[in-house]
Amino acid sequence: MRAVLLSALALVAGASAHIGRPRHGCTESHLLAKRQGGTVASESQLTNPTQECTAYSVPGIDANFLKLFPQPWTVTPAEILAGDNEALQYMQGINASGVIPTSIGVRGAQNEQAWAGAGLAGTYDIPGDPDCWWTDKGCTTPKHPNLIADVETCPEPETWGYSVDDGPNCTQNALYDFWKQQNQKVSLMFIGSNVVNWPLQAQRAITDGHHVCAHTWSHKYMTSLTTDQAFAELWYTIKAIKYVMGITPTCWRPPYGDVDDRIRGIAQGLGLRTIMWSHDTNDYNIQPYGAQPTASIQANYQSIEAVGSSPAAATGGIIVLQHELEDAVMSLAIAEYPNIKKNFKSIVPVNTCLNITKPYYEDYTFPDFEDYVGGKIDPSPSGQSSIAIGSTSYTITPLTYAASSSAAGSVGTAAAAGGSSSAATSAFSAPTAPGATPVNTAGAAAATVISSQQAGSSSKSSGAAVTLVPGLFVFVAALVGAALC
Ligand SMILES: *[C@@H]1O[C@H](CO)[C@@H](O)[C@H](O)[C@H]1NC(C)=O
Ligand SMILES: *[C@@H]1O[C@H](CO)[C@@H](O)[C@H](O)[C@H]1NC(C)=O
Ligand SMILES: *[C@@H]1O[C@H](CO)[C@@H](O)[C@H](O)[C@H]1NC(C)=O
Repeated sequence: MRAVLLSALALVAGASAHIGRPRHGCTESHLLAKRQGGTVASESQLTNPTQECTAYSVPGIDANFLKLFPQPWTVTPAEILAGDNEALQYMQGINASGVIPTSIGVRGAQNEQAWAGAGLAGTYDIPGDPDCWWTDKGCTTPKHPNLIADVETCPEPETWGYSVDDGPNCTQNALYDFWKQQNQKVSLMFIGSNVVNWPLQAQRAITDGHHVCAHTWSHKYMTSLTTDQAFAELWYTIKAIKYVMGITPTCWRPPYGDVDDRIRGIAQGLGLRTIMWSHDTNDYNIQPYGAQPTASIQANYQSIEAVGSSPAAATGGIIVLQHELEDAVMSLAIAEYPNIKKNFKSIVPVNTCLNITKPYYEDYTFPDFEDYVGGKIDPSPSGQSSIAIGSTSYTITPLTYAASSSAAGSVGTAAAAGGSSSAATSAFSAPTAPGATPVNTAGAAAATVISSQQAGSSSKSSGAAVTLVPGLFVFVAALVGAALC
């Protein structure tokens, strides 16, 4: 059934549709015998796909740890877990802030094809696109007040913004080795379920100094989910990334690009900026994983590479969608890299093309654009060889939302479309989890993160001037017990 659906979708896949979906790494690897996982370094040495993709246990990822998350690739979409008051209160806080437009309902269907078939044309004002539903018209500038515009291009001329969806992947080593060899950093859009299934692969992203954003828990069409489900998809992904990788992301990419102002509001309540793309390699659709012969995906890559030497490249760069779904997709990324390099002056991760040097709440500093293109590519601290999974306590600092009242006047088209700008004065403080300790330095870091993110989008004139104020949660994880995938 899924195969039929996938090939039907492949037929309608255009430049705007990201149809590829990850396979169920955990459920598949469950069928195989478990091995003892080593370290990031030892895991990075493996080259045999069967060995690489055999599920492993590592200290810290055990039954108790996994109880903190929806079961990877089994509970889809994610739901707020029973008894998870922290998540529940956080969601309530976002609701109370008013950042989520309440006029927008759950979409009736999961994708454009089903959506047309379901007669949604009658239930949504397609020409008006009042909710800035990307899946409909590619809208990236929110129409409701106080929402930050999506990022879809790179301000730096002749620049390829390198973004890779759907990792971590059990067979990623060859690609990550290649990046290392080429002194290339990238932006990785990680799926929460994959992060908990492949924790050492996830940690390699940090060890290698790449930039990480969230790509939801189970890769669903977000506009088809209830507000609480969409929240849970993001919440548990941030939490998995924090617990396993030690950092808190401030960006996310919607699977299939499926986002509207309701979903943007939920993401923003979690301190996440929406990162789209301007060019889609369609690499997910390569045979045998997808439906297209290698040559046609290559031709598509080449048409994007040609942008680098076009007159348009002088005025700005692009953000390109690539994947680390499986071997053929990753091999093509390696094969095309020299051509990209030939055609573009610089190839940089998305945070770097936006000149964002502090993409996390934690104390990591990435090079700014000039430093990166000058060859200083490593974040500091860099090259951490191990990250403790299973320490007894973690802090996570998602942002709380507060729109400054001065934003009201600058909301412009958003206020007009939304009817009211009064929500611009709304604010909330994050509910404090039991045992939480406010940390002021985290506040400073968070403010820097968001203000530099906004600087990165200054070309989007209608983006509301929103300030985000950090809250702090302390998650305490009791990490003992038998390993369990
Ligand atoms: C948040 O509001 C939405 C309706 O807009 C509701 O469906 C959801 O249950 C609320 N979530 C919580 C945790 O109160
Ligand atoms: C990764 O890639 C392999 C093939 O290269 C594939 O079988 C697997 O399902 C992928 N997914 C994950 C999460 O590792
Ligand atoms: C990037 O940020 C640095 C400060 O970190 C600044 O000096 C530089 O001018 C910025 N570059 C661009 C292209 O905005």
